[in-house]
Amino acid sequence: MSAYKSIVLLTGAGVSAESGVDTFRDKDGIWSKVDYRDVATPEGFIRDAARVHEFYNQRRRDMAKVKPNAAHAALARLEREFSGSVTLVTQNIDDLHERAGSTNLIHMHGELGKTLCQACERRSPWSKDMSALSQCPACGAVGYLRPDVVWFGEMPYRMDHIYAALAECDLFVSIGTSGNVYPAAGFVEEARLNGAHTVELNLEPSDGHSSFDEAVLGRATEIVPAFVEKALAGR
Ligand code: NAD
Ligand code: APR
Repeated sequence: MSAYKSIVLLTGAGVSAESGVDTFRDKDGIWSKVDYRDVATPEGFIRDAARVHEFYNQRRRDMAKVKPNAAHAALARLEREFSGSVTLVTQNIDDLHERAGSTNLIHMHGELGKTLCQACERRSPWSKDMSALSQCPACGAVGYLRPDVVWFGEMPYRMDHIYAALAECDLFVSIGTSGNVYPAAGFVEEARLNGAHTVELNLEPSDGHSSFDEAVLGRATEIVPAFVEKALAGR
């Protein structure tokens, strides 16, 4: 029987890296090729919506070509087999956690596979290229659609659920994130304040490294399955 009763997992781009999805701040990362202010801010969307649509259209097309990796599969197994609760909070906008089988999942930065209508404020599944002429599947309005992605300066989604899970958890595990962007980068301190044991699983020490009780460095497809094996054995 595991010593833990409630686990909160936080993932970032590093968990999808070995599936072939670019991270943001590693060498040759997305933000070394595109200025985040042009494609990941509300101001950038007002300035040039076509540019922003094309950026996310290309990422949506790329997402259709990649598959979940052993780290995604291990996290889905943890949710299935762990005796207590497992809440997976991801900063990623890809659908690899769902496709690996995770269900108790919060996309705090939104999802590439959804569109948000600025006229009716409803979200709809979206898989084709979006443009200023795209029509909202819910209300039919034309020219009001944006990617359902949270941009810099915007509030992440379901923060009430996330903080409630952090208040309950006795184990917090951060996987594949550089700890660069708040509020996600502050979750480890929130968990610590609530008495949780905190673990970082990452390729290299993140910006928040010193806040963690424990760290295992390596590639997610190796260290995450090993960590899950250990957690399920109650060791
Ligand atoms: P922030 O202050 O939390 O983060 C700003 C980040 O922008 C910095 O940490 C840095 O990593 C990054 N940055 C700054 N200059 C950069 C550059 N030249 N190239 C690449 N990265 C650079 O951001 P904020 O404006 O306070 O907004 C935070 C909110 O936005 C949070 O709600 C967060 O969840 C959300 N967010 C969403 C996305 C997304 O793409 N979905 C990206 C970042 C933040
Ligand atoms: N295994 C484990 N960790 C990895 C791997 C791997 N194979 N490859 C990269 N990493 C780690 C890197 O060491 C880095 O710490 O993943 C982290 C990726 O960091 P970022 O590129 O900054 O991505 P992330 O932390 O998810 O960014 C947070 O910033 O721009 C926004 O919205 C964007 O959600 C994103 C947020």
